[in-house]
Amino acid sequence: MHFPDNQSIYNRVTAYRFCPRFFCTFAFTFLKMTNINDHIYPVFDQLLNRQHKEDLLKQKAGVFWLTGLSGSGKTTIAKELEKQLHARGFMTQLLDGDNIRTGICNNLGFSNEDRIENIRRIAEVSKLFLNGGMIVINCFVSPTRKIRAMARDIIGEADFHEIFINTPLEVCETRDVKGLYAKARKGEVKNFTGIDAPFEIPEAPALDLHTANRSIEVTVGELLQYVIPHIKK
Ligand code: ADX
Repeated sequence: MHFPDNQSIYNRVTAYRFCPRFFCTFAFTFLKMTNINDHIYPVFDQLLNRQHKEDLLKQKAGVFWLTGLSGSGKTTIAKELEKQLHARGFMTQLLDGDNIRTGICNNLGFSNEDRIENIRRIAEVSKLFLNGGMIVINCFVSPTRKIRAMARDIIGEADFHEIFINTPLEVCETRDVKGLYAKARKGEVKNFTGIDAPFEIPEAPALDLHTANRSIEVTVGELLQYVIPHIKK
């Protein structure tokens, strides 16, 4: 077997240094190391846009953001709304707090910081669906005005429909579907919204939906009346 001597290795490397491919690779690696964000080239403008997707689906996209306490009825209402829209030929995507927290947000808890990050990710995901022409139905406690304002900013004022599922704390606590209020009262669940973490009532929601002493059909009927004109082409 022939091993090149040190001099011939040196000669080969020196020659290679002047080859354009080597130069480009070196320059690219160096630039990447200096600041990674300077080398992101989004191609949004080159892709089929929301209009193309909406035309194909024959609908107008939008994000219907259901906010309210745990147990207020967000998921129940959203599931029924989605069924009703599906039956009418609309393409929907439902995003739910408990589901999302087992996937894309499974590393987050319920501190104020984590809730902000939770909602930021969800808002960004919603925007992707929105640009795909979909009707997005979101069920998230999203407890503070600041958090909901951030979601609105990310999604865009015109496409963000804030729906307040207005169920009093006493009613949610009586329902206690998941047994979390009982645990929160005993101190077994910390930072629980409505008990030892705040819920700020929306100041000007697009729709203020009451659920106490009303059937699901009546509540969803009211919501449909709001939603349909916004999504019909
Ligand atoms: S948010 O505050 O960040 O918007 P999210 O909607 O994702 O919350 O999750 C709320 C759901 O998580 C509730 O419906 C409830 O089932 C569950 N949960 C568990 N711990 C808490 C808590 N400390 N506060 C609120 N919800 C909690």
